Amino acid sequence: DSQFMIAPSIIAGDMNNLENEIKRCISGRADFIHLDVMDGQFVPTKTFDHTKIKELRSLTVLPFDTHLMINEPVKHVKDYVEAGSDIITVHAEVCDETSFGEIHDYLKQNKVGVGLAINPNTDLPEWSYKFIASLDQLIVMSVVPGKSGQKYIEETHEKMTRLKAILNVHKFSGYIEADGGVTFDNIGSCFADGARVFVGGSAIIGKQDVRGAIRDFRNQVLK
Ligand code: DX5
Ligand code: ZN
Repeated sequence: DSQFMIAPSIIAGDMNNLENEIKRCISGRADFIHLDVMDGQFVPTKTFDHTKIKELRSLTVLPFDTHLMINEPVKHVKDYVEAGSDIITVHAEVCDETSFGEIHDYLKQNKVGVGLAINPNTDLPEWSYKFIASLDQLIVMSVVPGKSGQKYIEETHEKMTRLKAILNVHKFSGYIEADGGVTFDNIGSCFADGARVFVGGSAIIGKQDVRGAIRDFRNQVLK
């Protein structure tokens, strides 16, 4: 399948005017809006929480792709569903079979997409295998999460080959999202790796011309 989506990450913009960043995503013709929630615990930085997402919700019908970089996500997913997320991704590092099972079932019941994320040094845990077939998204982090503007970790390409073998065995049918350091120069190889959703922080929202950056991203994949 050659369909793919561009998901700008608004934390790479003006944190004091995220409303305007949403507007830039809309006029730039983004497919999704990637919302990086950081709690200052799972990662050292703090960004925003569900209250902000709820405020932003009225500005657009674009799908909200909520990436929870927080501890104990099982305690918080409800807030993020109620805030209007279309898909919610939690980190494997802070889940186990029981808590992820709970998150998974809750999101499915509420018709919210289920995502699992893994850090650069994390492999898919064995407990996750039974959920793979019903995952809507797998975020493969290509930077250590915490801030935008970091450099893409090249080993991610090899990791993707290993991951795809596991995903195939367990009948993954969702999207792989590439998150962290994705640029005009490496988006083509990320697509070749199998990623179909591309997060763009500094390479999209960090640019003056968001629409041009998104257009360039698309053309680079299609070429
Ligand atoms: C990493 C976040 C990413 C990041 C993207 O901490 O999950 O979404 O902000 O920004 P860039 O594309 O600049 O790495
Ligand atoms: Zn993210």
